[in-house]
Amino acid sequence: MPLSGSGTASDGWSSRTAFVLAAIGSAVGLGNLVRFPAEAGESGGGAFVLFYIGCVLLIGLPVLLSETLIGRHGQASAPESFRRVAEQSGSSPRWEWVAGLAVLSCFLILGFYCVIGGWVLHYIWLFLEDLFATGISGTAFQGVPASEVEGLFPAMIGNGMLTVSLNLVFLLITFAFVMRGISGGIEKAAVWLMPAFFVLLIGITIYGAFGGAFSRTLDYLFVFEPEKLTGPVMLAALGQAFFSLSLGVAGMITYGAYVGRNVNLGGTSLVIASADTCVAIIAGLCIFPIVFAAGLAPNGGLGLMFQTLPHAFQEMPAGSLIGLAFFIMVGFAALTSSVALMEVPTAWVIEKFALARPLGAGIVLVGGVVLGTLSALSTGALAGFHPLGFIGLFEGQGVLDTLDTLTSRLTMPVAALLTVIFIGWIADRRLVDSENGLTGVLHMTFMLLVRWLCPLALLAILVVGLFPGLLGG
Ligand code: PHE
Repeated sequence: MPLSGSGTASDGWSSRTAFVLAAIGSAVGLGNLVRFPAEAGESGGGAFVLFYIGCVLLIGLPVLLSETLIGRHGQASAPESFRRVAEQSGSSPRWEWVAGLAVLSCFLILGFYCVIGGWVLHYIWLFLEDLFATGISGTAFQGVPASEVEGLFPAMIGNGMLTVSLNLVFLLITFAFVMRGISGGIEKAAVWLMPAFFVLLIGITIYGAFGGAFSRTLDYLFVFEPEKLTGPVMLAALGQAFFSLSLGVAGMITYGAYVGRNVNLGGTSLVIASADTCVAIIAGLCIFPIVFAAGLAPNGGLGLMFQTLPHAFQEMPAGSLIGLAFFIMVGFAALTSSVALMEVPTAWVIEKFALARPLGAGIVLVGGVVLGTLSALSTGALAGFHPLGFIGLFEGQGVLDTLDTLTSRLTMPVAALLTVIFIGWIADRRLVDSENGLTGVLHMTFMLLVRWLCPLALLAILVVGLFPGLLGG
């Protein structure tokens, strides 16, 4: 059954594979390629990675399944799906507000994610120019001092005209897919870009492994030092697992709404979560050998991708070409995520106001441009504008950081927490059982996790996220 009011009466994924690729496309993004490697390296190597995998399997996976089953049962936008499941379970239609909050989160994330996507576009351009100058086998940025290469990043983010335009371009590319609907647009992005992404990721990883620093990378990422696994590190891993799996933002409810009855949601969720986790780990195995082979120390956060790596490509044979391939790969991953981020509010707008899809997506686009412009300027002209700076948690943060903190610390965990409480305790058991495709021990485990472990873990993320002082982090 289609989304009512979508204007594309027979729209939906054309196959299970298309759905799986689109869901993996939504999950695999900047979170896997930028945040996971940086956090894994800094926060304890093997102990962090193992704990992260545990978080994905025991907490992320049940939430992922809960979200998809609400969407598949509701067959509508996230709030409407939530309302339908609530009403059929004899509870209040107000549960739709949980999904409403998640849709809002998605929109807020769209408001900064495409800014970073735009930065990636700029680096694709820089490496393309460089490739024309140096040729296929040359190292990147020949003759340019390393400090200047690293300085490209502050120069870019400080240039408001540039970042605002880049954000606009990235949003427009995203819009071009979303306005064409599920089978005609969103699915096309996934089916073409995700396989290309995987080929690039594996190819660059193999090439980088020959640079001589692979075993050092294995030590860095996998040496097991349990004492590094402190409270703040564990919560960072849990939060990262949620962001990476795109949970708490109604993304999986929305994508689940276009899934046919014949798809086994339990098994499919496992495939999606495993693929996302494998990509995060392979991203570490791709990035660090390049950095170490150049004799560099990995710095954390965004600097790893936008400063350390371009510098490292200066030392790498064919660095110009590999650098270009690398940023194209990141761009593909970011684009399939931003498509999901735009689709969630779009599905709601077209249903709520009975609009044609291009118009609904256009409204979300305009909102994204407004929010994104403010975010894009927050690393330059508007750096001194701290919209929620009067609240401790947001002190000193510009629009981009404020949106990130607001969603990851507050709105995403709240929505995910209420979703698992709903599925674990409120929703009709037969409805949940008939949708999730689980039997026997797996079914019992799912119920146990969704009722107890998931709510407790999410509560912990929420409390510590809002009051970081509690764990001394
Ligand atoms: N999971 C994506 C990433 O890792 C981000 C994202 C969050 C995408 C929420 C869609 C919805 O980058």
